[in-house]
Amino acid sequence: MPETILTNNALAERIETSDEWIVERTGIRQRHIASVLETTNSMGAMAARNALQMAGVRAEDVDMVIVATCTPDKTFPSSACHIQQELGIPPCPAFDVQAACSGFIYGLSIIDQFIRTKMAKRVLLIGSEVMSRVVNWQDRRTCVLFGDGAGAILLEASSTPGILNTHISADGRHKDILYLDNQANATIEMQGNSVFKLAVNMLDTIANQILVANNLTIHDLDWLVPHQANIRIIQAMAEKLGLPMERVVVTLREHGNTSSASIPLALDFAIRQGKIKPGQRLLLEAFGGGLTWGTALIQY
Ligand code: UT7
Repeated sequence: MPETILTNNALAERIETSDEWIVERTGIRQRHIASVLETTNSMGAMAARNALQMAGVRAEDVDMVIVATCTPDKTFPSSACHIQQELGIPPCPAFDVQAACSGFIYGLSIIDQFIRTKMAKRVLLIGSEVMSRVVNWQDRRTCVLFGDGAGAILLEASSTPGILNTHISADGRHKDILYLDNQANATIEMQGNSVFKLAVNMLDTIANQILVANNLTIHDLDWLVPHQANIRIIQAMAEKLGLPMERVVVTLREHGNTSSASIPLALDFAIRQGKIKPGQRLLLEAFGGGLTWGTALIQY
């Protein structure tokens, strides 16, 4: 996470909003903001180094790098190529995945196919975003929501599956309710209410779909690790699924919506806190601009 923290109260000094409104409507209390020296590439490289260290894997043994991001420093070369070079990872497939806030789950799904078909053995998946550079800081309907950060995981081929299953999908009919034009100084445009309703109406359905497809029920899950967009969306999903909030990882209070970085950051938090333990079963879920969405069942 970038060092600089922007609290709701500090935001309220710049635009017409309040800590009370933001906390009540979103659950967010603060967000981290990248300095000029902190970029998608630099934060992503740092997260990737930490992931390798935690996994005890050397950079030279990584054979694929995927970065999920909708705020790359450059359109090309990709952030994946930059991070590959930065870490000294030998020549291998390296590319970015752009599926807005669902990018991390899309990345997981791609990697699952590569590992199952023995095309890759050790893959770095990184979610890294500088959302602060693409929000309109005068638009209180969007700027209070987003923050910057990066997270990464290392996936390794093994005889016991870690990724049990992934489902990804999209519906381009909703492309105009949340978008970011590819032009200088363009900012995120969002019909917050429409996104909110679509998310609340679909998230329990897609969670149940992947559970049923794997002959599991909600009782077989230890943790739900949702995309950290809005606490009310997460609570509505948990309630519809009949899942107590004690089994849901929530980190958005501290860093808002970090898009593709939100799930790896939530995983990092819950694993380092000792909440998520080896052998437990997790359901990851995300939705974002497109509309894109995805779920992943993980045996940690
Ligand atoms: O990764 C996916 C990314 N996107 C999302 O997840 C967004 C999903 N949507 C949301 O989270 C919610 O729709 C928002 C948090 C964006 C907005 O919450 P809401 O409960 O849907 O509020 P609203 O847009 O219906 O606005 C209610 C009122 C409006 O005032 P009026 O028209 O009733 O007088 C807004 O102008 O709240 C006002 N408002 C604010 N007031 C203080 C909107 N933003 C703010 C603000 N501070 N920051």
